[in-house]
Amino acid sequence: MARLISIVIGAGFVFVLALALFFTAKEAIQNPTPETAEHEFHVDPRDADLPSNSIFGKFDKAQLQRGLKVYQEVCAACHSLKYVSFRNLTQLGYSEGQVKALAAAWPVEQPSSNPETGEAMTRKNVPSDRFPSPYLNEIAGRAANNNALPPDLSLMVKAREDGANYIYSLLNGYKEQEGYKNEHGEELLKKFPGARTPEGLYFNPTFPNLNIAMPPPISSDGQVTYDDGTKATRDQMAKDVAAFLVWTAEPNLESRHAAGLGALGFIIIFIFLTIGAYRNVWRNVKH
Ligand code: HEC
Repeated sequence: MARLISIVIGAGFVFVLALALFFTAKEAIQNPTPETAEHEFHVDPRDADLPSNSIFGKFDKAQLQRGLKVYQEVCAACHSLKYVSFRNLTQLGYSEGQVKALAAAWPVEQPSSNPETGEAMTRKNVPSDRFPSPYLNEIAGRAANNNALPPDLSLMVKAREDGANYIYSLLNGYKEQEGYKNEHGEELLKKFPGARTPEGLYFNPTFPNLNIAMPPPISSDGQVTYDDGTKATRDQMAKDVAAFLVWTAEPNLESRHAAGLGALGFIIIFIFLTIGAYRNVWRNVKH
């Protein structure tokens, strides 16, 4: 009797599951996910191949310095780095004097107020300041950028999937929309005539919705002159600024990697010790 009851209950479960499967399949067949331009034409980031990537990864200080220069001369006109102070730049190999000079000459000044009248004004940066935003507030930032606020870049590498590769590819990802084809050879504007980039936005298939409010920041080779003689191609500048933003998001990456490798070494030694102890304990026991 008990056996019969359990068979009936079991059959009941199977029946409910089968029913659920049937309705899910029916729904999927009747209402397939609609094809959208974003789904069909978005491209995944390319690998920037940065030296900080693997578990043995380290920063290349010369590259970080070049990335700082790109940030300073190009991105700082719109983006802040509000979690990074000028004095942190000593980690990139600058002396304190150099940091002081760099802060004082920074193109965007700190918001401040006149000590006598209280009027808003700006002052030169000092090493303890964070990298400032060029906009007084969010409204001003939006007004200057077609209503899109340039986000703070300090943690951007962590805030986007595959962050460093994404930033590198985004900067290089602007394309002519007319005649743009995806990897299957389909033409965007033929397939989705309504997907034409609106006025004031820029076509960039690396950006998830294909149209971004940021004008192409890196537009020509040699836009920045590197102090170390590296050729400033567009690809190189995008790579260097991505590397710099890996550092701003995780300045302690190298010590984290070192701690991880140390722990791995310890575990390997521990495994050998355990095998030794095991053999020692069982050495007199015959099979
Ligand atoms: C003229 C102003 C301007 C300059 C210069 C500029 N940006 Fe932007 N950036 C923007 C705006 C506006 C957005 C917001 C775009 C949007 O949401 O459509 C943005 C967004 C971004 C984003 C976020 C994209 C996302 O997934 O949301 C990244 C990363 C970025 N910029 C990096 C950079 C880097 C690196 C530089 C320098 C090489 C730079 N930007 C220079 C205006 C600018």
